[in-house]
This record gives sequence, structure tokens and C-alpha cells, in this order.
Amino acid sequence: MNKEEVVRTLQIQREIFGEDLYVKSLNIEKRVKEKEVKPIPEDIFVASEEFQKANSLEELNSLICNCQKCSLGATRNKFVFGTGNINAKVMVIGEGPGADEDAKGEPFVGRAGKLLTDILKAINFDRDEVFIANVVKCRPPGNRTPTSEEMETCIPYLKKQIELIQPSLILCLGLTAAQGILKKKDSLTNLRGQVFPFENAKIMVTYHPAALLRNPNWKRGCWEDVQQFRKLYDEMFS
Ligand code: URA
Repeated sequence: MNKEEVVRTLQIQREIFGEDLYVKSLNIEKRVKEKEVKPIPEDIFVASEEFQKANSLEELNSLICNCQKCSLGATRNKFVFGTGNINAKVMVIGEGPGADEDAKGEPFVGRAGKLLTDILKAINFDRDEVFIANVVKCRPPGNRTPTSEEMETCIPYLKKQIELIQPSLILCLGLTAAQGILKKKDSLTNLRGQVFPFENAKIMVTYHPAALLRNPNWKRGCWEDVQQFRKLYDEMFS
């Protein structure tokens, strides 16, 4: 096995058996003679969390862009880190890359992305002024909803992005992203119209643009949400 395969195998073992059990088994292995069991490098878990040390988005991207922590890594074409202003006051968070994003390596570049750009423009935000990312960085096959395990695995990357960018406001697009970040099993109807504290920022939730393409009658509700979001921004910065 090469180093990557060893790391992946250990990660799978940790995912299946839990860290406690795994670490205990490591200790047992250490007691077995070296001849019988190859010692496992102790820094392996530290290495998989190395991204936490990143001091910039660029550094973070380079540490996580080859991620294979979940099965989405095997099927993606491109890792979609996120794009925009690295000092943005506003972050916009979607669910996960679709086919266009997977091909280009950038979030929201397809039809839903065009609508997002227009929605932002409608409340006087330039797309380049904000930072856009997703809760999962790799495309779920067939554009299915990411599983809770996939989100749990990937959300630490998003949290690190938030830590580095330090946005004041976050707009969450759709129920999957909102539930993933807020850890609330609430409906979109209940989550919309509220302001949630998150780290040093405030989060608001609205419809996902892809949902608006399927149900244009929801656009009115989205319009109300984003106007409220803009008002909050203006109150904070004017
Ligand atoms: N939908 C998302 O949630 N994110 C993208 O990047 C594209 C479509």
C-alpha cells in the first residue's frame, strides 16, 4: 500500500469503529513485536487535520483539494473550494457542486448560479464582493442530496473558511445547507425570516436558487428574505 492508501484505510477504520476504539487498537498494536505488525505513524491523524493550521484560504485550499475523506472524492472531477472576496463581509453558502461546478471547479456557475448572481445584484451585492462556497466541496453523483455523513465530514472545511474570512453575515441557500450548518432539524419555512448567531457572524436562510428555478412562485418569498438580509447588512455597516 502506498501512503495515500494507508491514510485512507486508517480513515475508513476510524469512521467505522470510532476514534476511541481505533486508538485503543493502535496501542495494542504497539505492544505487538515490530516484526509482526508494522508500526503506524503516530502523526497520521494529526496529518489529516493539518488543514486546521492553514493561515490563508490559498493554503487551506492546497491542503484539502485532494481530499478523499468521503466517497465523493472518488467520483468528483474537480474539488470546488469556493470563490470570491477573501475579505468578504458576506458569505453565501449552497449545498454542493452540480455538474457545471464539478467540471469548472467553481461554485454556482450553472443556471442556478446565474440566478444567484442576479439575486445578489438585486440587493446591490456584486458577486465578486462576497465569498461563495458549499457545505460539501465535491459533487454528489447525479446531484443527489449530500448525506449527513458527507456533510459532517466536509463542514469542518467550511468552518475553517469562515474562520479565515470572518464574514459578518452568511446567507444560507436551501434547507440542506441550513440544517447542515445550523444543526437544526427545522423546516425551511421556520428557518426563513430568522437571524441565527454563528461563530462571529449572523446567518439568514432563504430558498436555494435551483428550487426557485423549479418553483418560480417561491421567488417572492426569496425576494422578501434577501431584502431583510440587505437591511441587516445596511444596519451593520452604515
Ligand atoms: N448548487 C449548489 O448548492 N452549489 C453549487 O455550487 C451549484 C449548485
